[in-house]
Amino acid sequence: MTRDYDLVVFGATGFTGQLVAEYISHAPARPRWAIAGRNQAKLEALGLGVPILVADALDPAAMTRLARATKVVCTTAGPFAKYGSELVAACAAAGTHYCDLTGEVQWMRRMIDAHHERARATGARIVHTCGFDSVPSDLGTWAAQQEFIARHGRPAHSVTALFGESSGGLSGGTVASALSTADEASQDPGIRALLANPFGLDPDPAAPHPRCPDVRSIGWEPRLGMFTAPFVMAQVNTRVVRRSHALADLPWGESFCYREVMSTPGSARGLAMAVGITGGLGVLALAFAHPRLRALLAKRAPRPGEGPTSAVRERGHWKARFIAESGTDQLIYIASDRADPGYGSTAKMLGESALCLALDPLTSGGGVTTPSVAMGGALLDRLRRAGLTFAAAG
Ligand SMILES: NC(=O)c1ccc[n+]([C@@H]2O[C@H](COP(=O)([O-])OP(=O)(O)OC[C@H]3O[C@@H](n4cnc5c(N)ncnc54)[C@H](OP(=O)(O)O)[C@@H]3O)[C@@H](O)[C@H]2O)c1
Repeated sequence: MTRDYDLVVFGATGFTGQLVAEYISHAPARPRWAIAGRNQAKLEALGLGVPILVADALDPAAMTRLARATKVVCTTAGPFAKYGSELVAACAAAGTHYCDLTGEVQWMRRMIDAHHERARATGARIVHTCGFDSVPSDLGTWAAQQEFIARHGRPAHSVTALFGESSGGLSGGTVASALSTADEASQDPGIRALLANPFGLDPDPAAPHPRCPDVRSIGWEPRLGMFTAPFVMAQVNTRVVRRSHALADLPWGESFCYREVMSTPGSARGLAMAVGITGGLGVLALAFAHPRLRALLAKRAPRPGEGPTSAVRERGHWKARFIAESGTDQLIYIASDRADPGYGSTAKMLGESALCLALDPLTSGGGVTTPSVAMGGALLDRLRRAGLTFAAAG
């Protein structure tokens, strides 16, 4: 089937969408591309000089037209549980590849249940979590395992990711998405159970799985000499890594376990930070569980379209350390970037995912899949060229 475009960036007027569209406009090799959203004047004001498509995310016919016009849709129109479902349905039906940057696990579960088989049949690669959630975790684990296998001739039995030094900010859409997930969870015990299930995004979340619980307390990592604390994004990222492993037919063994934590320095200050993070997350969870406190948080949060200033973004950075091990064999692997995680670095990760789906000769099949399963080494090469580090520590 011929398509008008190779790539359409939908939600290009949003805070993150603008960064992604700008990133693609500077890519050395660009596909035939266009920007899309619901507001023509706002799209024109971006001044990107590429074709403009006007479509409302809540209009199924408009989403079908959009999906049929292009080989790939890259979308930042979130909260995705509110605005994302018609577009995923249209892409799965039209055989159109798709990438987004959602971290809404309950919505991804609905998309998997509704569209995985259809997307497999049409060949559409539907790839959620192509931003800071969950590319470092998913691709970092995959790359660490490739390195471990090259060195030791077998995969690591477990991988623990420690998210350490970082600096950045939050946008209105990110807060709105977290609050919308909390709203859904507070009304539906089934969603609360899904969010608490470490294998909630597996093909069958109810099947027997190895014991690999979420980390909920402070710890000490002797190999790095660092304290550890629960990581706020682990409840998304760990599910994505486990889905990748399941979709790839468990190449790292049936009992493979992936864990994710935050790390702080191995000093008294680091211990105080770990205590503060653990306590802070507990307070945040309580606040998210209460409608009146959620409303208060929403009032104080950035509005849709707002986000961290360019000065905050330019000072941004992040670093994750992966410990891969099997018996006495061990590997420390690093993923990092000198850009803020949620926006500067996310624009690279989502932009390169979109370009990868549009331009690279991928061999993966269709389905509701993950960054590492859909794009693996091709995305890794792109992100390294974009300035991210994915490398063994020694
Ligand atoms: N995974 C990560 O690391 C990461 C990082 C950053 C953001 N995110 C996620 O990305 C999403 C966007 O965040 P943001 O802060 O960029 O949000 P935002 O600034 O509020 O942008 C939302 C976008 O969605 C569009 N939109 C809303 N309703 C629409 C509709 N009915 N039809 C068409 N377009 C519609 C908006 O269009 P208008 O301009 O016309 O209103 C805007 O372009 C959120 O879900 C957030 O959680 C994830």
